[in-house]
Parts: sequence; structure tokens; C-alpha cells
Amino acid sequence: NPSNQDLAAEIKDLKKTKNAVLLAHYYQRPEIQDAADFVGDSLALSQQAAKAEADIIVFAGVHFMAETAKILNPRSKVLLPDLQAGCSLAQSCPPEAFGAFLESHPGHTVVSYINCSAEVKAMSDYVCTSSNALKIIQSIPSEKPIIFAPDKNLGRYLIRKTGRKMLLWDGSCTVHEAFSIDKLLELLKAHPDARVLAHPESEEHILTIAHYVGSTAGMIARVRAQPRQKYLVATEAGILHEMQKKVPSASLIPVPTAEDNSCACSECAFMKVNTLEKIRNCLRDETPEILVPEVLAAKAMRSLERMLELSV
Ligand code: 13P
Ligand code: SF4
Repeated sequence: NPSNQDLAAEIKDLKKTKNAVLLAHYYQRPEIQDAADFVGDSLALSQQAAKAEADIIVFAGVHFMAETAKILNPRSKVLLPDLQAGCSLAQSCPPEAFGAFLESHPGHTVVSYINCSAEVKAMSDYVCTSSNALKIIQSIPSEKPIIFAPDKNLGRYLIRKTGRKMLLWDGSCTVHEAFSIDKLLELLKAHPDARVLAHPESEEHILTIAHYVGSTAGMIARVRAQPRQKYLVATEAGILHEMQKKVPSASLIPVPTAEDNSCACSECAFMKVNTLEKIRNCLRDETPEILVPEVLAAKAMRSLERMLELSV
């Protein structure tokens, strides 16, 4: 079996020959993040994809991220190393059911979190990520009722922060709902000087005791701002790699899940299906490719463009 070093070297050569870029999310395996041209949160990755001039974009992330990249950059060939890289949150919002929900609640401005299918984006007025959700909600005139989908935890958080009336779709991320509040409170007792960082996909009881709530990029920025602090991190454990790399002086403790599993921290099985070997293979064979039908892409593009305009 080839070593990670050999695979990384092969990937580097293939990228050069084929004019390809490798974009990776913070939840990817450490060796994938190290081989990537750019590592970021959903918003930064969308912005990178939109402006990429490469012939090929290899997306080390999950399906909705690669699909978004294809919509934003139809000129590039977009590859996803493994089509099994889905997302429990995106799956919790089937387009047909969402369409029926919108029909039964007319007159709303529809905001969808980027973790959803192109079909759901096409039915939305705005897309948002956890980096810009507050800003996007606040840009909508206050008399307008809002439907927010698919993440109810982020939705509830936005209602608390903005005081806006919002109808929520009943979706969630199984990874972020797995954190144990009891174990977090125990950890806080043992480390009273620690700061809790939480992703807004986590449940309300976690968010209420968090000192900082934000996207993966937001959490890294927060740690960079206070580099000597101790942090309890409530998001997918893959983020610890880039966080520690950027801020070696910070002490980082992953918040445990309720289940006693081997790593005792929260891992997204979908993010983790990608491996260096699959990235090498997909670059070499130029498959699996992500394609989005033109009419669908054009509709989804409108809500994505509104998000990008509000995110500069
Ligand atoms: P970020 O946009 O914060 O990177 O979140 C992506 C994601 O899938 C969270 O589960
Ligand atoms: Fe989807 Fe949750 Fe995995 Fe993020 S962590 S990709 S929201 S399943």
C-alpha cells in the first residue's frame, strides 16, 4: 500500500499536469487537509470554488459542497472522491416534502442553510452558511415572515439572536446532536478556565453554555484571537488539526459524545469516507464527476448569488 507521503506526492503531480485544485473542509482527515490547496469552512470554500480558474476542482468535502461548487463554477469539472459522502442534515430535507411545505405556507421569504440539495436551494430566496446566517436574516425586511431550513438548531439560535419570527423545517445534523451536555459540564468543572466553542448546529443546551458560537472558520479565528487559552471544542473533531496547526499554544479538548466510542469525540462518517487514495484515484480517472442540470443550477444560483453578495 502506498504511504500518505507517496500519495500526497502523486496528487501534487496530477494537480500540476491537469491544472486542478484540491479544496478541503476542516472536517477532512489531517493528511487531506495537508495536501489541499485551500482549507476552509463552507462559505470560504464556495467563494474559492466560484473564483477558481482551474480545469478541475477536486472537492474533499461532502456532496452538497461539491454540488454548490459546480453551480458556482460550471466551467470547471468538479470531482467528489466518493459519492457516499452525503450529509445527514441535507438528507433530512427531501425536496418534494419541502416543496409541499412551502406550498402550505405561502408568503414567506425562504432561507436555506447551504447543507441542502440543489433542489432545495432552487426553491429558496437565500442560501446562508453558519458564517453569514445572522447577516442574511438581518438583511430581510422585518415585516417579512421567514421559513428557515433544514437545520432547526441553527434556526432556533437565529430566532434567539434576532428575535425574528421564523418557521423552521425539522432537520438536524446527527454529528452535532451527539454531544453530551453532562460530559461537557463535567469537563467544565475540571477545567473552569476553559472556553467553550460550539457550532450552531449543536443543540440549545450546548449553545447556551458556549462562550462562542460560530462556524468552523469563526472558531479558528476565535482561538487565534486568544492563543494561550484552553478550549472545549463542540464540533466535528477534524477541526482540531487546523486549529492546532494555526495556534500551537492553545490547549484544545474535543467535547465528547454521549456514546462511548473509540475516539470519544464527534466524527462525521460522511466527511471521513474521503481518503488520500480516493483523491488520487479521482484525479487520475477524473471520476466521479458532479453534474447539475442547467435549469436547476440557474435557479439555485439565484439564492447562492444573493448569499455571496451579502458576504463580501
Ligand atoms: P461550516 O460552514 O461551519 O464549515 O460547517 C459545515 C458543516 O457541515 C457543519 O457541520
Ligand atoms: Fe452534514 Fe453534520 Fe457531517 Fe456537517 S457534520 S457534513 S452537517 S452530517
